[in-house]
Amino acid sequence: MVQLAKQNWQAERYAATANFVSALGSAVFDLLAPQAGERILDLGCGEGALTERIASAGADVVAVDAAPDMVAGARARGLDARVMPGQSLSFEREFDAVFSNAALHWMHPPEAVLDGVRRALKPGGRFVAEMGGQNNTAAIMVGIAAVLARRGFDARRYFPWYFPSATAYRAKLEIAGFRVVEIAIHPRPTILHSGLEAWLDNFTEDFFAPLADPKEARAELIALLQPTLCDETGTWIADYVRLRFHAILDAK
Ligand code: BEZ
Repeated sequence: MVQLAKQNWQAERYAATANFVSALGSAVFDLLAPQAGERILDLGCGEGALTERIASAGADVVAVDAAPDMVAGARARGLDARVMPGQSLSFEREFDAVFSNAALHWMHPPEAVLDGVRRALKPGGRFVAEMGGQNNTAAIMVGIAAVLARRGFDARRYFPWYFPSATAYRAKLEIAGFRVVEIAIHPRPTILHSGLEAWLDNFTEDFFAPLADPKEARAELIALLQPTLCDETGTWIADYVRLRFHAILDAK
């Protein structure tokens, strides 16, 4: 069954306070190495900052995202962006490459996503992506679990993400019919220029929405994390861990 996170995506807020997500996407963009004339699907495009970069390389890009407000933001850039959850891709053998940055971890179940990517690609096409990997934002996750537990909630019930290890995701890619060229975990401490509060606004609604007093719980979480994630200059640095890979669809 397709599961959608409850996060209320707001393109304007995201562009103002989470633009580091696309700004730090150069490694996966370089791995994609888009060529002029290629037809490329950007899966989970958000408000389209990286889609625009791929289009600037001369590729013919289609962008999809489950969040209508994000798709509206991408369309405002003049992109061909469509509302479509990554678990129900409706394309058949039309793309030279499928690209994704910081989106696959929101999509459950991963098998449905891989099935759609396989169908969307031409034989021999490539799937190049970066997502949260095992241990991603672990300190924040443990903090959220502690704050929720104190209020009688089990955070595991609300966990909207999938952060696999390289071994686990390689196996899923191979089962889905891909040959893995490279896959690896990359720890990437990430400066949150807009602070932890803005990060929580952008990404953690699934956890805090059920609480009677989410504001108080968030304040407790911030106090709990401050000694480990905030440096002496007041800069918040989150413990991001990326899983980046390049896989090829076996030509049949
Ligand atoms: C990520 O991109 O790794 C991420 C984004 C939001 C919440 C958790 C992880």
